[in-house]
Amino acid sequence: MYPLRRNRRLRTNEAIRALVRENNITPNDFLVPLFVVEGMGVKEEIASMPNYYRFSLDLLYMEVKALWAMGLKSVLLFVKVPDKLKDNAGTEALNEKGLMQRAIQTVKDACPDMLVMTDVALDPYSSFGHDGIVEEGIILNDETSELLAEMAVSHAEAGADFVAPSDMMDGRIGVIREALEDEGFIDVGIMSYSAKYASAFYGPFRDALDSAPGFGDKKTYQMDYANRFEALRETEMDIDEGADIVMVKPGMPYLDIVREVKNEFDVPVAVYQVSGEYSMIKAAAEKGWLDHDQTMMESTMAFKRAGADIIASYFAKDIVKLLS
Ligand code: PBG
Repeated sequence: MYPLRRNRRLRTNEAIRALVRENNITPNDFLVPLFVVEGMGVKEEIASMPNYYRFSLDLLYMEVKALWAMGLKSVLLFVKVPDKLKDNAGTEALNEKGLMQRAIQTVKDACPDMLVMTDVALDPYSSFGHDGIVEEGIILNDETSELLAEMAVSHAEAGADFVAPSDMMDGRIGVIREALEDEGFIDVGIMSYSAKYASAFYGPFRDALDSAPGFGDKKTYQMDYANRFEALRETEMDIDEGADIVMVKPGMPYLDIVREVKNEFDVPVAVYQVSGEYSMIKAAAEKGWLDHDQTMMESTMAFKRAGADIIASYFAKDIVKLLS
């Protein structure tokens, strides 16, 4: 009881605060998203994501080496597919010499021990900008899952350590797991986007990959942001179907979901601080309205406090620089 207990004693100076700090941020916490494009010598800044770039394979190679030297040991790959290669059947997604397949090999050439995770979804390959095969305005579920499984196997053949299905079709984790087992990829893991909400915070990412839906929205497969119990149902199903890691996405507006998933399940929990969250901090900092580094660190620590084991973040490099 006050005054015998004075909580401020433990906040008197940085040494005592550090000693009693409940969470810490280290380079081991991060998954670094990387955007890849065709070409040579290409490093283009994404207009709505200041200081974030699309790399051609030669510069991806250099970037991966730089990340490794900083202690960042896991990447999550996304590709920007030329329009002429997009269709409604994911043809290019299965091309064994496709951009994703070459990007995987490039990362492994640069740093054999870098953990490579790949985005598994059709939207960057889709002429409709949707995560699945479209028929008369409907996103087909089971047909899409079969295609995603083939895509996952193709990524595994190219050397991916983990596949990360971000599509939200029902039952796709089971279909992907079985396909990987059948092809002998028993050690290739699955990080499932389990609780992925239909969110306006993905806007800048869709600019980065030119992957915005051509009609409608993604609300028939991504989750309604009004829902909480649904996130637990989705996560439970993915774990039952064989997900090794589950993910909540977006991040900051969904910390309650991160905490619930962490409390409920015993597999590692990832959170994705998505493009719009990054862009908000960058924009406010550019205007001088928020302190960039402090808000970046505070939002990242919030994920740790909420229970995230893994953080996918466009700030990963900035954070590690600041830590060292
Ligand atoms: C696509 C995918 C998206 C993101 C990751 N994978 C966009 C979407 O679902 O429309 C968003 C990532 C971000 O905003 O940073 N399947």
